[in-house]
Amino acid sequence: MKTIAPSTLVIFGAAGNLARIKLIPALYRLEVAQRLPEEMLILSVSTEARSREVWIDAVGEMLKAKYPEGLDAPAFARFCQRLHYHGNPPDDLTAYDRLKTLIDGSGKFPPNVVFYMAVPPSMFPGIVDRLGDVGLLKQTMGTRRVVIEKPFGYDLLSAQSLQKGLTRHLDEQQIFRIDHYLGKGTVQNVMVFRFANILLEPLWNRHYIDHVQITHSESLGVDGRAGYYNEAGALRDMIQSHLLQLLTLVAMEPPVSMAAEHLRDEKVKVLKAIRPIPQNAVHAHAFRAQYTSGVIDGKPVPGYLEERGVSADSTTETYAALKVFVDNWRWSGVPFYLRTGKRMAEGSSAICIRFRNPPQDLLRQSRHDHSHPNWIMLGIQPNDCLKMEIQVKEPGLELHTRTLSLDATYRKQDDADYDAYEGLLLDALDGDHSLFLRYDEVEWAWRVVDPVLKVWAMEREFINNYAAGSWGPRGTYRLFDREDQFWRHSLDVSGADLQAY
Ligand SMILES: NC(=O)c1ccc[n+]([C@@H]2O[C@H](COP(=O)([O-])OP(=O)(O)OC[C@H]3O[C@@H](n4cnc5c(N)ncnc54)[C@H](OP(=O)(O)O)[C@@H]3O)[C@@H](O)[C@H]2O)c1
Repeated sequence: MKTIAPSTLVIFGAAGNLARIKLIPALYRLEVAQRLPEEMLILSVSTEARSREVWIDAVGEMLKAKYPEGLDAPAFARFCQRLHYHGNPPDDLTAYDRLKTLIDGSGKFPPNVVFYMAVPPSMFPGIVDRLGDVGLLKQTMGTRRVVIEKPFGYDLLSAQSLQKGLTRHLDEQQIFRIDHYLGKGTVQNVMVFRFANILLEPLWNRHYIDHVQITHSESLGVDGRAGYYNEAGALRDMIQSHLLQLLTLVAMEPPVSMAAEHLRDEKVKVLKAIRPIPQNAVHAHAFRAQYTSGVIDGKPVPGYLEERGVSADSTTETYAALKVFVDNWRWSGVPFYLRTGKRMAEGSSAICIRFRNPPQDLLRQSRHDHSHPNWIMLGIQPNDCLKMEIQVKEPGLELHTRTLSLDATYRKQDDADYDAYEGLLLDALDGDHSLFLRYDEVEWAWRVVDPVLKVWAMEREFINNYAAGSWGPRGTYRLFDREDQFWRHSLDVSGADLQAY
């Protein structure tokens, strides 16, 4: 277990949604598990003026709402000792000077400080500017780090301008770009799976792999986030960030070591090797659609255009699929298909790797249907799992084959369950960048999707649609290179499932 130096965690937007639902519960759980550094204080910064006592009561309410089964009383008492509060009304010109005096002048707060921006992205540069202006980002008394939440820009240009704003006061080592998706155990397991097992390495290339599919589907709609979502759309919200990150983990070369910079160097190389999509080829590489009304879990749900906060002529995509090629020795010619959608049949995330057919189909006579290639599948949500499909002989006198799924689900019932934010908060306090994005990763990921965003932004008259509760639009199949490629919707063996759409 790592020993983390005494530190102060300053949360901007402490009464906001992210802090309430994720950060404060994660910190409390770390307290219960006795994983927080002994000398660590949490300074909540929020726009309302409140006393420390009132804030501690508010935190108690947040935690009771999150854990209705009850709190661990001794852990909660310890947690309250760490909690401090600073009112930061936007019109108070002295607020940042007071914050500086509190942190650097009161002698109460450990000088290694992490500033967590749990505020809308448009506010990051302004807050960083104010912190820089009062001298809170100078690393003279201790380390000063800033955690920022996605989205890191809206497109390539805005990402570059956000970066320019941040680097006026910060160097790259001080910036922690958080993508909670990368903190999930299964995502890290892609690295363990690849680099702790030699078995697959000889097969992990264009000679044996037919294609790779990465899916994130949600049965939920926009759920109160219509304002944000209608501006962003599925390609920005999921593919530019999370799914391209998963692609880098599947495709990267083994790093020199697991040190943060070595890992991030290899991920960037993959993004740089992705073949640029010219604007006139966008339709061959990308597909978008919007959900119409349908039925999910037996209940009727409205279409996207009927959602509150969405304009009736919106062409924002709630489904996006992308085909990319990684032009390097390992992956040349292997398509990577990425897709995401809201209001789909099921909520799930998975990486599915389909292998090539054997060079000769010796068992053609012993099958009733088409050949079944091998698949390796890593389930991320709702359950972590690892499955591999192979062909075996059906018991009996005839030489018939059947597909068998080797289910290497590694999570045991009593394995500790944790939220991605718990690990990521500890990493930020410890200064470990491994699971945070470096700026060049962000910029190269924007370069991949930027041509698609540009074309879609120009084509505002028409968007394909799909019924809520389905697996997405039929037209998406035009992205596949061959007729025997199809979206894998389920990790279970079932002919109907495999071909269903
Ligand atoms: N919510 C999630 O589950 C989630 C998931 C992933 C990423 N994120 C990212 O996390 C960040 C925060 O998200 P959120 O959902 O918590 O946002 P939010 O609820 O819209 O806003 C968070 C807080 O920011 C402060 N704030 C907003 N406007 C302000 C203004 N004009 N002046 C001063 N303070 C202002 C407020 O803090 P106080 O109320 O404390 O004054 C507000 O409660 C965003 O960058 C978002 O993209 C959120």
